Amino acid sequence: MIRLNNNFNKLQAGYLFIEIARRVSDHAAANPGHKLIKLGIGDVTRPLPPAIIKAFHEGVDDQADAAGFRGYGPEQGYAFLREAIAEADFVSRGCSISADDIFVSDGAKCDTGNFQELFAGDISIAVPDPVYPVYVDTNVMAGRTGEAKDGRYDGLIYLEGTENNGFVPSPADLPEDGADLVYLCFPNNPTGTTATRDQLGEWVEWALAQRSLILFDAAYEAFVTDPELPRSIYEIPGAEKCAVEFRSFSKTAGFTGTRCAYTIVPGAIEIDGVKLRDMWNRRHSTKFNGVSYPVQKAAAAVYSVEGKKETRELINYYLGNAKIIREAMNEVSYQTWGGVNSPYVWVKTGEDSWDTFDKLLKGADVVVTPGSGFGRMGEGFIRISAFNDRENVQEAIGRIVKAMG
Ligand code: MLT
Repeated sequence: MIRLNNNFNKLQAGYLFIEIARRVSDHAAANPGHKLIKLGIGDVTRPLPPAIIKAFHEGVDDQADAAGFRGYGPEQGYAFLREAIAEADFVSRGCSISADDIFVSDGAKCDTGNFQELFAGDISIAVPDPVYPVYVDTNVMAGRTGEAKDGRYDGLIYLEGTENNGFVPSPADLPEDGADLVYLCFPNNPTGTTATRDQLGEWVEWALAQRSLILFDAAYEAFVTDPELPRSIYEIPGAEKCAVEFRSFSKTAGFTGTRCAYTIVPGAIEIDGVKLRDMWNRRHSTKFNGVSYPVQKAAAAVYSVEGKKETRELINYYLGNAKIIREAMNEVSYQTWGGVNSPYVWVKTGEDSWDTFDKLLKGADVVVTPGSGFGRMGEGFIRISAFNDRENVQEAIGRIVKAMG
């Protein structure tokens, strides 16, 4: 008789952004005619830059032409894209990463969620709190946790992000037994905080000494403008032996609807005598047939001279929004984190965060993300996303200030 994976029953609630969407659609249905402004899920609103659209069109035209037509592509991604990524994002920044280490995919969410499949069922796992929920939920689904109690799962190690540590946990926050696998995300989702070279250096040193692995989510690295801050964990020597990095064109170049991302699994990582890169290759080529050719052409254009300039303008546009949000919240005396080198502003409200969410939805027609949706340590905070058009951000902030004031 067919039976289900009962680990799914342990999941505490619907996926955060689905729950938000449900409340928003109920509100919209009850209030037709209201102009709702969404600063909740980090979804871009600006169109793809011209250089990228041009390459996208060229990719489509190639498919209409017998000479240019492509069928299945290489599962790991076309060499033209992987080589452009390796050179621009890593080699030029002094990182020991080659095109062979890069796996093109359709999203960092899928990759951060799927990567845990490579590890034994009983490894110990540490996640930050607050946390991007995908890291936790996918391990719950895989059966690596016990039941949920008070918003946390038995068996997971939670690295608490607090005002005291500036929402940047360190290896000293781990229990004595350490952890086999640690998820880190910088610039951080949801708090918008960044980690310095020294802070990442501590994690790399710890992972090398413990023979542990770091899964480093760098989906927001393009928002780092401070030259002192690392954009990749591979800027820290030794990280190529103990860290996998996830990146995405979603927020960097407006690809949330177009779908393209990449994961770096350095050839130098060996676990139990097996190259992790070979194992991910085996998994990737078994379960995935690659990102479409026109999309990879479009992604490669991000690295052209024009593409770099235009994506920089796009990022600066959203960073300008983040500045408006951060300054407005500070002006009305709310303490904030992030919003600099990051598109997310983390605001301390001191109230139940779903109550604040509902108050802003019902009283201001503005959608934010309740901090508690990211974990226990997010209670009393909301996350405001800078991904929207400038006029909407300005209008939303005016409404938020009024509703919260
Ligand atoms: C977020 O709002 O946290 C992200 O947009 C979600 C995602 O990228 O999956």
